[in-house]
Amino acid sequence: MKKVYITSNIPDVADELLREKFEVDKNVDNKKLTKKELIEIGNTYDGLITALTDKFDADVLSQIKRAKIFANYAVGYNNFDIDYVKENNLIVTNTPEVLSDTTAETAISLLFAVSRRIVEADNYVRKGKWNGFSPKLLLGKDIHSKTLGIIGAGRIGKRFAEKMRGFHMQVIYHNHDRDLSFEKSFNALYKPLEDLLKESDIVSIHVPLTKETKHMITKKELALMKSDAILINTSRGAVIKEEDLINVLKSKSIYGAGLDVFENEPEINKELVILDNVVLTPHIGSASIETREEMAIMAAKNVLNVLSGRRPNNKVY
Ligand code: DGY
Repeated sequence: MKKVYITSNIPDVADELLREKFEVDKNVDNKKLTKKELIEIGNTYDGLITALTDKFDADVLSQIKRAKIFANYAVGYNNFDIDYVKENNLIVTNTPEVLSDTTAETAISLLFAVSRRIVEADNYVRKGKWNGFSPKLLLGKDIHSKTLGIIGAGRIGKRFAEKMRGFHMQVIYHNHDRDLSFEKSFNALYKPLEDLLKESDIVSIHVPLTKETKHMITKKELALMKSDAILINTSRGAVIKEEDLINVLKSKSIYGAGLDVFENEPEINKELVILDNVVLTPHIGSASIETREEMAIMAAKNVLNVLSGRRPNNKVY
């Protein structure tokens, strides 16, 4: 019987599906796996469901001889050395589409939390500081009728724009390619990155992390933003040079930021934690009960297909 290993504690629906045909083991304690353990697992099992925290660099991949499929439990697959994957024609799959709405909803939650100071307001009430309605208490910023800048109008970026429709915003976007049908449906205007940053009241980042997008936003780009702009990142932390963003937030040269992802996860820069113009969440972009189950089913089906001699549905290259 073929063997499958699930490297993180994903919903049981995946194991149930796979157990019909294979022997399945799972890292139920969600223990961070070392390089050595990843290699060992890859040489013991025929298929793996991997987590975005498992780093499959060329060194690890080159020492794995048995596993035929790496089904990443995420849409992003920057935890793999993609050049090595391509050169060696390895099968790596991801979980696109099922999490687009949920991740867009996370970006929207962060946006409103920042603009209307929801976390600060909640703390204010809990700490017993409130002593009655006050006209200037915790004033925030409106979202409606402003300019919304989307960096990366892929699946998630587009869902974000779609959900924000009721707020009557001018949508502008930056992407590696222009998307004429997006422009038509959303009355969206394509902008070079610099212009988008200068013109947007809200900037939301939805690009994958690649060699090209790493540190796409540094102090140079942040300096172009309006002094009352809001920056949201639900993609990958390293798209922004975090140190530069912290300086900008400290000097209050933008209104605020909402971050679900960080450059050195799970480490959080101590300076971020003390700022009140940033809302921080622990990489929960796709963390809804329904979506995490869908992702588990998708990853399991990819393993099932490959180990049964069929093509996977979501091969990344
Ligand atoms: C992904 O799928 O890449 C997300 O970051 C996980 O929530």
